[in-house]
Amino acid sequence: MRLGFIGTGVITKAVVTGLVRSSLSFDRIALSPRNAEMAAELAALDARVEVCASNQEVLDSSEIVCVAVVPQIVADVLRELHFESRHQVITFVPGTSIEKLNRLVCPASKLARAIPLPAVADGKGCTAIYPPDGVAKSLFSALGETVEVESEHQFDALHAVTATMASSYAVLEHQASWLTQQGLPYGAARAFLSGYCVGLAHETTQTEQSFAEMIEYLMTPGGLNEQLHSELSSLGAYRHYGDALDRVFARVQDRA
Ligand SMILES: NC(=O)c1ccc[n+]([C@@H]2O[C@H](COP(=O)([O-])OP(=O)(O)OC[C@H]3O[C@@H](n4cnc5c(N)ncnc54)[C@H](OP(=O)(O)O)[C@@H]3O)[C@@H](O)[C@H]2O)c1
Repeated sequence: MRLGFIGTGVITKAVVTGLVRSSLSFDRIALSPRNAEMAAELAALDARVEVCASNQEVLDSSEIVCVAVVPQIVADVLRELHFESRHQVITFVPGTSIEKLNRLVCPASKLARAIPLPAVADGKGCTAIYPPDGVAKSLFSALGETVEVESEHQFDALHAVTATMASSYAVLEHQASWLTQQGLPYGAARAFLSGYCVGLAHETTQTEQSFAEMIEYLMTPGGLNEQLHSELSSLGAYRHYGDALDRVFARVQDRA
């Protein structure tokens, strides 16, 4: 299996690192040259990882081509390249629809969209794939869990939800800051909250329960969890999340 990456940034670093650490068998990973520092860092990980002289050279030496540039430039970057029918393209770019991508990578035989997240570097997390695709599934199954969805609307909604990363850390920063106001050193607050998050994430993998059932289970009547959850609910904190996601989703779909 020969893989290529157009765009050697944060997410390519995570995927390539995960692939090198995984048990997946591959012959070669070709990287586009832009961001030379990152490309050199990845090439130093494994002899099978090489930096190409151009984006076209990545295509010429790969069957599976992953596209990982920012949405603003993806059309221009792909338009300059000559794809062949042997290519299978997997794009990580939000908002560019399969229909539009098909025109840009024609005559590539197969095309899928995927949402890997940085934890794939350590074989963790869950990569979304649309449409269901055997090659993308076997690639990302080597890097953690996968979820295949049946419609582009559903896939775009998953892309929208990834906009919650910064706000999730913001919630933690508020909690850490509150702890420092109670006299804790920031380092101790951060260490505690980081482990606390690992525990919460771990619990979600140990049960098939819905999140609503997990909330119910944690809310002892009259207990502290019930108090905080009820207070935030009555202040409308969760409703704001839904409203903000609607607006992010509209932006994601706008680009399609
Ligand atoms: N980061 C994530 O967690 C994540 C998750 C899922 C999907 N995505 C999506 O994946 C894509 C890449 O995200 P990222 O976070 O990896 O972005 P990033 O760190 O900005 O990486 C993009 C890379 O593309 C390079 N580039 C710019 N012009 C290029 C060209 N003409 N040809 C080839 N490469 C070029 C940039 O090089 P320079 O540094 O030299 O400008 C940069 O290193 C985005 O569409 C993003 O939405 C990201």
